[in-house]
Amino acid sequence: MTGVTDGAGRIRPADDAAIAEAAEILRGGGLVAFPTETVYGLGADATNDQAVAAIFAAKERPSFNPLIVHLADAAAAAELVAFTPEARALAAAFWPGALTLVLPRRQDCRISLLCSAGLDSLGVRVPAHPVAQRLLTACGRPLAAPSANRSGRISPTTAAHVAESLSGEPSLILDGGPCAVGVESTVLDLTGAQPALLRPGGVTEAEIEAEIGALADAEAAAPKQPRSPGQLESHYAPSRPLRLDAESVGPREGLLAFGPGAPEGAAATVNLSPRGDLTEAAARLFAALHDLDRPELEAIAVMPIPEEGLGRAINDRLRRAAAPRS
Ligand code: TXA
Ligand code: MG
Repeated sequence: MTGVTDGAGRIRPADDAAIAEAAEILRGGGLVAFPTETVYGLGADATNDQAVAAIFAAKERPSFNPLIVHLADAAAAAELVAFTPEARALAAAFWPGALTLVLPRRQDCRISLLCSAGLDSLGVRVPAHPVAQRLLTACGRPLAAPSANRSGRISPTTAAHVAESLSGEPSLILDGGPCAVGVESTVLDLTGAQPALLRPGGVTEAEIEAEIGALADAEAAAPKQPRSPGQLESHYAPSRPLRLDAESVGPREGLLAFGPGAPEGAAATVNLSPRGDLTEAAARLFAALHDLDRPELEAIAVMPIPEEGLGRAINDRLRRAAAPRS
């Protein structure tokens, strides 16, 4: 069966029973596609590393881009990120709605580091769609949700688009009809000296400027804030040098291991997945890099990781971390 015919059984009208089932799947670490007013999202419990890694696997993404975290209201968002006065004004004006605010993670932020793709910021949004709202309330967890399309495809604005684009996962697609806005949310970075537009979307630049004044030109005013974090070669590199494709390890090195048979003798070892599971490895990647970034270590030796499935995204990030520092 193709993904298209296969999709029929996965699509359910978003009634109370389907939403309850979706909430149960999400709490158990599974994936559910759901409508928002902008586009359909592929949702997972944003506090669950393994569930967030499964999003990247389902989308077949070759790299880790940060994911937007969806919340029921601004108070829930304020538990995760540090709000600035501008953020408060924008949340009051446009939430619930098609605006994502990128803000610094709070120290006690319990969201998976994978949602931030290793940055110390987080994109948060309160969606307006009633199905998204009911799902957030029913499951009681912040939901990480990129657009529910395979990487490189067009964002889905109907449940059928999701079924066509994503085969296999998710097993449940909540159908809330066509999306009213139909383009993604506007992404605004509030971590720099001046607010910068990272992605135009459902809320216009003029509407935002009417609330908080002129925005910075993303490229000119904030050259150190790339539009996409992946554009920075040494993006979020650990302070210790990385040595890739290590077959052995020295006594003053940390070892980032993968799979069984890791070499002995490292000063410290973190195994991303002793059983060689790439989704588990992706789930642990950023926490492992933090853990091994210790001043007493000369370098971090990284065992080879297969260049397949999520391994491509893991290697992409490791190569960036190993690149010459700017
Ligand atoms: O309308 C939308 O925003 C949809 C629905 C499902 O909410 N979601 C969506 O997510 O479009 P996604 O992952 O396809 O796009 C998220 C965008 C990416 O361009 C990403 O780079 C940016 O937001 N983004 C998210 N968090 C960020 C962060 N901490 N720093 C910089 N950019 C961030
Ligand atoms: Mg997208």
